[in-house]
Amino acid sequence: MFEQRPAEFENWRDLPASHQPQYPFAEQLTQVTRDLRSYPPLVFAGEVDQLQHLIAQAAQGKAFILQGGDCAETFAESNAERIRAKIRTILQMAVVLTYSASVPVVKLGRIAGQYAKPRSQQYEERDGVRLHSYFGDAVNGFDFTRESRTPNPQRLIDAYHRSATTLNLIRAFTAGGFADLTKVHEWNKGFSSNPAYKRYNQLAHEIDKAMRFMNAAGADSESLRTADFFSSHEALLLEYEDAMTRIDSRNGKLYNTGAHFLWIGERTRDVNGAHVHMLSQIENPIGVKLGPSVSTAEIQALLEKLNPSGKFGRLTFITRMGAKQIVEKLPPLIQAVKADGRPVTWICDPMHGNTISASNGYKTRKMSDVLAEIKGFFEVHREYGTHASGVHIELTGADVTEVLGGVEEVVEDTLGKRYETLVDPRLNHQQSLEIAFLMSEILTDKSENS
Ligand code: TRP
Ligand code: MN
Repeated sequence: MFEQRPAEFENWRDLPASHQPQYPFAEQLTQVTRDLRSYPPLVFAGEVDQLQHLIAQAAQGKAFILQGGDCAETFAESNAERIRAKIRTILQMAVVLTYSASVPVVKLGRIAGQYAKPRSQQYEERDGVRLHSYFGDAVNGFDFTRESRTPNPQRLIDAYHRSATTLNLIRAFTAGGFADLTKVHEWNKGFSSNPAYKRYNQLAHEIDKAMRFMNAAGADSESLRTADFFSSHEALLLEYEDAMTRIDSRNGKLYNTGAHFLWIGERTRDVNGAHVHMLSQIENPIGVKLGPSVSTAEIQALLEKLNPSGKFGRLTFITRMGAKQIVEKLPPLIQAVKADGRPVTWICDPMHGNTISASNGYKTRKMSDVLAEIKGFFEVHREYGTHASGVHIELTGADVTEVLGGVEEVVEDTLGKRYETLVDPRLNHQQSLEIAFLMSEILTDKSENS
């Protein structure tokens, strides 16, 4: 029934695979993956190729990548209201960047499949009870009971269905009128009058004017009414990713049909490991997260393994160094890539190197650190003559209080008000817009200087 995949792909099973769930019953997993394999693809390979082309543009400074969404999506929040708010936030950020910097923005959600997390502690202990850590809804439940915390393969099926319904809604929103550029004002309705929103409303007003002008002048383009939107998640659970990897009937090549873009985490990027091998075999554009400990030898090995033929758009390095280290750690990596000669796309993740504990115990981040890392990232690339091609951000569309700072300031005492994340702290809607305005200033400078 299924076309045979090359033996080279299947070899991932012989390699060390870190951060995989320990399921109590192996037969259940076999049944689940057999089912998954028969389910329809979530994305079409042609879209995947189109995204690779757009990322290639970004790699050459002709577009900008905005990758954003939850640290971990949850089944409970995969409802219309939350998805709409997230899409709206990303679209608003994209509009700010597109308009201010006059550069096409590649909209890539950390969405429709971001259901699994690697954890440094395999177990969590509370009052003498030791259970599995929470590894994301695709693996186990957050509730601290034995039943919920035991990894359950059936959750992979649920993750597939949640991904499918989420993606369906995204497609409906972005093609069905919600992303229409004549509606930019509406996306901001109902928000308070803080400075980020005021600024957004001004910009929306200018866009309205431009749209009316174009209308009057007879320019009427479909591309103003719909937006391209792509999905991505961390390729962590190898059995799931394996089941979604299929041969494309157009060209006989392997595609992961569970998302347009996949990335490998900082903890699973061992060049001799199963994750890197699996993604080396597929056609999708892929990313690798790089933290401060990465060596230039590892950079070289990753390039060789993941982009041997040196295709633009194929390999993205997502750096997450932290505000304090970015300026020191990024240059040697850029030089290693230059020395190799094969292209990569550089994206800044200003979130994961900046996680701290507040004095009251909350895991948080500071807006000022997020901004500082983005600035440092752009500065280093400017200095080395390479392109800063995008950002990777953890955000949500709701008004949560998880990240410190912002114009409507979240301080340590207010963190508890709406701290909803189950894993990492996310920028709220207004903080996300602030970041977009800051980046649009940096991007505008850049285009005016060049
Ligand atoms: N189609 C273009 C794009 O996707 C322009 C566009 C339409 C757009 N709606 C948008 C851009 C909403 C940003 C946000 O980029
Ligand atoms: Mn995270």
